[in-house]
Amino acid sequence: MFRHLISTRDLDLKTLHAIRGLYLDFKEGRKEELKGDVTLLFLESSTRTRLSFEKACRLLGLRTYYVGRGEGSTEKGESFYDTVKTLEALGFDCIIFRVPFVLFPYDRYKEEFVSLINAGDGTHQHPTQGLIDIFTALDAYKTLEGLKVVYVGDIIHSRVFRSGSYLFKLLGARLGVCGPRTLIPSDLSPFGVEHAFDSVDEAIEWADLCIWIRLQEERFQENYITSKESYFMQFGLTKERYEKLNGYFMHPGPVNLYVDLDAEVLYKDKSLVLQQVKNGLYVRMATLYWALSDG
Ligand code: CP
Repeated sequence: MFRHLISTRDLDLKTLHAIRGLYLDFKEGRKEELKGDVTLLFLESSTRTRLSFEKACRLLGLRTYYVGRGEGSTEKGESFYDTVKTLEALGFDCIIFRVPFVLFPYDRYKEEFVSLINAGDGTHQHPTQGLIDIFTALDAYKTLEGLKVVYVGDIIHSRVFRSGSYLFKLLGARLGVCGPRTLIPSDLSPFGVEHAFDSVDEAIEWADLCIWIRLQEERFQENYITSKESYFMQFGLTKERYEKLNGYFMHPGPVNLYVDLDAEVLYKDKSLVLQQVKNGLYVRMATLYWALSDG
């Protein structure tokens, strides 16, 4: 028995509640033992996602096999689909993948007899980060119904936004975005966004929860911003703006100091950043257990 998690858009409320239940159980110390072999195929850099998945696998008794940047045969021209078929033929039970490209169309992968868990594909999806963000928000606010959530930063390149925004809407939150117009999708209707703010000060005033996301310069095709200094002054979480927050702020990491946030606010009381990291382990245990167990 196995399931895939490639996009949060494949999750319905029932499944979301089931994964949340597992997350809470693992957070409270539930122990489970699974059998199986898991490939961690990380063709893009990662600290949090890779190590929390690896630790989650080991806590669940799963054997892990790591393939990093420069080590996979996709770099010799093999398609990702053929890599999946190869790992399936080798008898792997699960492939956790982070890749610099978008899996599109991804429905064909759902037919495969190996569980596929997306740890980030290009600008498309990072579903377990979306789960971390809504579960961390739920832990802090108890309900997301009517909660005003604003994403600030590089929205157009953000798989964190694409994954989390869908889940926040599913649980009844209201959504805003804020950033340079060059980094906001021209059509926000698929995401259910109510407000696109040009001013971060207005966004902060509106929101109950602010989520800063990183400028993904590695994906920039052109100069979308004038300079990092001017971006920080216009959109960053400065010490002054921190004082004006109505509630908590989150950031999925990695943080670029003095681009996204001032170093002095990163671990202050209104920050959920380390909570997101801690919860990452339990989200990934829950996801693996949901994907690979008969339950
Ligand atoms: N949030 C996140 O995906 O971080 P890493 O790139 O360190 O895994």
